[in-house]
Amino acid sequence: MRKALEVLGILADGRCHSGGDIARSLHITRAAVWERIATLRGAGLEIHGQSGRGYQLETAVELLAAAKIRDGMEPGPRSRIREIQVLSRIDSTNQRLLDQSMQSDIDGVACLAETQTKGRGRRGDNWHAPLAGGLYLSLGWRFERTPATFAALGLVVGVCTVEALAACGCGGIGLKWPNDLVHGRDKLGGILIELRSELSGPTTVVIGIGINLLLGESVRQRIDQPSTDLAKVCGAIPSRNRLAATLLSRLAIDLPIFGSQGFGPWQKRYAKLDVLRGETVKLVLQDDIVAGTVEGIGETGALQLRTADGVRSFLSGRINRTV
Ligand code: BTN
Repeated sequence: MRKALEVLGILADGRCHSGGDIARSLHITRAAVWERIATLRGAGLEIHGQSGRGYQLETAVELLAAAKIRDGMEPGPRSRIREIQVLSRIDSTNQRLLDQSMQSDIDGVACLAETQTKGRGRRGDNWHAPLAGGLYLSLGWRFERTPATFAALGLVVGVCTVEALAACGCGGIGLKWPNDLVHGRDKLGGILIELRSELSGPTTVVIGIGINLLLGESVRQRIDQPSTDLAKVCGAIPSRNRLAATLLSRLAIDLPIFGSQGFGPWQKRYAKLDVLRGETVKLVLQDDIVAGTVEGIGETGALQLRTADGVRSFLSGRINRTV
């Protein structure tokens, strides 16, 4: 894949490049170019082959670059992000940081990948991660004291992510409790928080964020729920490096505030983005289904559901939007 990415680096501008030119600039044979093009196509990229002319990506892409991400960050929060790792391919960026945490401190370490082979979603789902077709980012973070409303961390990360998208020109995105980024009824992204278990003292977490930028038709067909991507929602794909930089800046500012003050300061910000408020839903719990109307999100991050038995609070569950 690393070698195929060298070819992608040339095609990334969206122009047509002849097999001969690609071969010459990478010092490889035309047959090797063809093999690498096949690898890129296998990873889900749409590449047109025009006989006699060359190869052209259907949509130009911007490859991730750690230096560009760091340069794009605001100076204050930049100092809080100790390391930015950019990988071509990994099983899961969350898993990579969890593994790393067994040997070293992952606080302030960000890991991004062009593609994941075993991207993880919540409830054991797969997270489809087509090559250069999304933002797949994990951040290790240590909370010296665990806030009482710790379960709401995913909600805070959701707010940061939607606000970062808006700052990059992608507005109109909402949050579906607890951790889905949505546009209308379609899922655009999600958040997976995993804990590095410690017996006592500070809590270290891995915050995983996945955002769809450009889902090819083959990937779209494999996703078992209505989904969308930024190309559709914004009409253009924002710079992935700028988006990563903006998101990391926001997290580096907001996570320490969450650490000391809990969810309270986010309640109003979340409410502005909450797509479920006022909606009649079914909440699927491990051994029950509760129907009701969403009143909002409480100050601990719990869903407030008006049911036949009055208003009830829930800290977890899966929402089915019934109407
Ligand atoms: C969900 O909505 O189910 C959560 C999806 C989280 C996906 C991201 S992509 C980066 C990080 N690495 C993973 O394996 N998963 C998260």
